[in-house]
Parts: sequence; C-alpha cells; structure tokens
Amino acid sequence: MRLVITDSYEQMGLEAANIVAGQIYLKPGSVLGLATGSTPVSMYERLVAVHRTVGLDFSEVTTFNLDEYIGMSPENPQSYHYFMQENFFRHINIKPENVFLPDGMAEDMIAEGQRYEKLIADKGGVDLQVLGIGQNAHIGFNEPDVKFAATTHKVELDEETIQANSRFFRDASEVPRYAISMGIKTIMMAEHVILLANGKNKAKAVYQAVCGDVTPEAPASILQLHRDVAVIVDKEAAELLPSSIHGVYISRKG
Ligand code: F6R
Repeated sequence: MRLVITDSYEQMGLEAANIVAGQIYLKPGSVLGLATGSTPVSMYERLVAVHRTVGLDFSEVTTFNLDEYIGMSPENPQSYHYFMQENFFRHINIKPENVFLPDGMAEDMIAEGQRYEKLIADKGGVDLQVLGIGQNAHIGFNEPDVKFAATTHKVELDEETIQANSRFFRDASEVPRYAISMGIKTIMMAEHVILLANGKNKAKAVYQAVCGDVTPEAPASILQLHRDVAVIVDKEAAELLPSSIHGVYISRKG
C-alpha cells in the first residue's frame, strides 16, 4: 500500500487524476473501474480539465462503475448512471458503448451480476479501480460482514449508509434499501487500485483500511492484501493514522 496525504480535497482529486491520466497515456485502451459519491468529484473535474486542456483521450477507454441502486432507471437524477453522465461522461470523448454500470432495473439480479462479471472479463478485466470509502469502511456497496469471495451481487444497504446517502435525497426514507454492487472479489481482481477519502468523518474508516485487522467487519481492510493499492487522502481523513506511518509514506503539499 502506498499512502499519499494531501493538504486539501482538491489536491486529493489532482493526485488521483494524475494516476488515472498516467494509466490512459500508458494504455489508451484501459479499462477503468469508477465510483460515484462526493469523494471522486474533484478527480472527475480535474480529468475533464486535462481532457480539455491537453486532450487526454478517452476514445479507447472502457469504464465499469462499482454500483447502482436497485429500482433506479438511468434517467432518474438520483441514479448513479445519471451522476456519471453529469459529472464525467458528457464532458469527455468516451464512447457511450464503452460505458458500463450494473442495471438497477434488471428483473433477475443474480443474472445481472453474472452478466456484469462476464462483460468485465470479456474486456480483459479492470486495469485501474477507483474507490471511495464509506464511514463504515464499505467499498462499492460491500457493507460490514461482507463475503470476501463475492462477485457482483445484490446488497442490502446498512442503516449508516442510508443515513449518509440521505443528503442526496429529500430524506432518508427516499434512499433505496438495495443496490447491485461489484463484490470484493471483483474489486480485488483489478490490476491497480486507488482508494480516495476526504474529511474527518472518514478518518476511522481510513484507519481500518490501512492499519486495522483484515476482517469482513471492515470491508476496505481487504485492500491490505492487494498487490497494488494507492491510498490518497486529505489530512483530515488521515488524522487517525499513526505518525510512524506518515514517515514512511509520501505526503504532498499543495
Ligand atoms: C460509490 C460507492 C461508495 C462510495 C462511498 C463514499 O459508487 O461505491 O462506496 O464511494 O459510499 O461515498 P461519498 O464519496 O459520497 O462519501
């Protein structure tokens, strides 16, 4: 695991965007795994800026998003399909046919999970997976007590996640109770992973991911067993990490 601690949320996005852009320059036909939520917005903004200013080319890139709420159509402004269009895809030159998210409207979620896994495999697997982290240390929507061997599947959201995500809805009662998410195994199969976090409310989860026991109680802790993970966090999200760790990792100002 490499750890990059940044001074600000914007700097976190910049560091993450640099890694994504580097991946695309090295391999124009990269397969990216992408996340929604507040955390990666500054990364998407930066990638859009790099596309506009120096022509970062997404025309050969394929993307697979981590998750989607069950029962939400792509036209619903609260769907993750919609979020990705608004925050990223409509601002870059990615081909619509190269963009994939799990189908939250599928009738059979077991079949949908299998279809999604096959699509990822057919594209050669994910080269670089971008992750946020929940306050309960979930990655994707893999909530505590996760089965580490799971692939894309239907999940029931934790009460903590429902409360956290209610900020995007009128109130918590409107937050869907179920989602379809890549599983931990899907995430662990990615060649490279970057985990992003900002803000004090993520400090405990970041501690669990980086220094805690590897346990299904803290799903992100499994990343300690991945061969290539960069953890990019602002200083607030890093505040519970012991300073002995800071010393051996990179800290960036900006
Ligand atoms: C989103 C996802 C989730 C979020 C996490 C943090 O696609 O899979 O794991 O990354 O819930 O959300 P934010 O960034 O809104 O704090």
